[in-house]
Amino acid sequence: MNLIREDINDIEAYKPGKPIEEVRRELGLNNIVKLASNENPLGPSPRALTAVKKALRTLNRYPEGSCFNLKRKLAKVLGIHEGNLMFGNGSDELIDVILKVIKAPDADIITSDATFVEYKIGGRVNGFRIITVPLKDFTFDLPAMLERVTPKTKAVFIANPNNPTGTYVTAAAVSDFLARIPENVLVVFDEAYFEFVDEKDFPRTLELFRKGGRRNIAILRTFSKIYGLAGLRVGYMIAAEDFIGAAERVRQPFNVNSLAQAAACAALDDRAFVRKSRQLVRREKRLMYKAFAKLGIWFKKSAANFIFIRTNKDTQELFTELLRQGVIIRDMSSFRLNRYSRVTIGTKKENLKLLNALKNIKRL
Ligand SMILES: Cc1ncc(COP(=O)(O)O)c(C=O)c1O
Repeated sequence: MNLIREDINDIEAYKPGKPIEEVRRELGLNNIVKLASNENPLGPSPRALTAVKKALRTLNRYPEGSCFNLKRKLAKVLGIHEGNLMFGNGSDELIDVILKVIKAPDADIITSDATFVEYKIGGRVNGFRIITVPLKDFTFDLPAMLERVTPKTKAVFIANPNNPTGTYVTAAAVSDFLARIPENVLVVFDEAYFEFVDEKDFPRTLELFRKGGRRNIAILRTFSKIYGLAGLRVGYMIAAEDFIGAAERVRQPFNVNSLAQAAACAALDDRAFVRKSRQLVRREKRLMYKAFAKLGIWFKKSAANFIFIRTNKDTQELFTELLRQGVIIRDMSSFRLNRYSRVTIGTKKENLKLLNALKNIKRL
């Protein structure tokens, strides 16, 4: 066993949402609804599907390591230089790539105590000390995070909107934060859910690149959510040209597979699918708020495609009782948020199944 780094043993492995197939096997249920991983319930973008079918014929070839077509297209859509853009095997990979680029001995990264867990896992694997700052009203507390910055701090990770709480930091809060953070600390804005955001005071971080501005910022986004391509794994990073240059050297040579590249390219043209996905989330989210209020379930208003709720039940108990009825949600026990849970917005039918299942639970 002493082959293995000691600190790896202390890392808790990432716990994904329970897969539908697993529930089918374990409970013998047929009609199962998964509202546990913030996926797009409408399926993949239809244009992406067509592109994947066409790309199947070239699977004997290695993919283009540079994501040439995808990069050219997305840079145009975003209005930024291609040199500010790179792709990853999901934004998950890019979190790890960032950490590898900035890795230093005796260094730390700062994030919040209840956020996307990959910052902490990746940080620890790469040897960083992790400083977690409590959320304030379930929202990233940027002033409190600033206070924890020291000469040892290499990066701050901000999920905006935050997973699992669905809250966001405003343009004003970000502007204040960026004015005060030292230039040698990288600020990572993980905007995996930004396409779902309707709120007018959400920060326009991309503008910072159009103006050629700040060098110590990285933005992460993904094709997993609004484009419905979670299974193909494509994410992207927008950052300063020299940072992207370093990150390109660190990543695996063929990190984004050819089907994923073709699908992402086609999905960018599928404006109808994006619109439909956004509308579904907007409409259903409102209905879910009403239904939760009626059931006496506390919830936090969300800027994303999921809702953070609190019940009188222990989160694992709620998870199990819903699972028995064929509904998979995300329990929050890994955050020790024992009465909280996270539910993804599904189709109308899926959401109704969740609501009916909740109605069957006693002492909710
Ligand atoms: C905040 C946040 N960042 C990143 C990811 C990972 O996205 P990807 O599928 O692109 O790896 C998720 C996925 O749930 C997320 O919630």
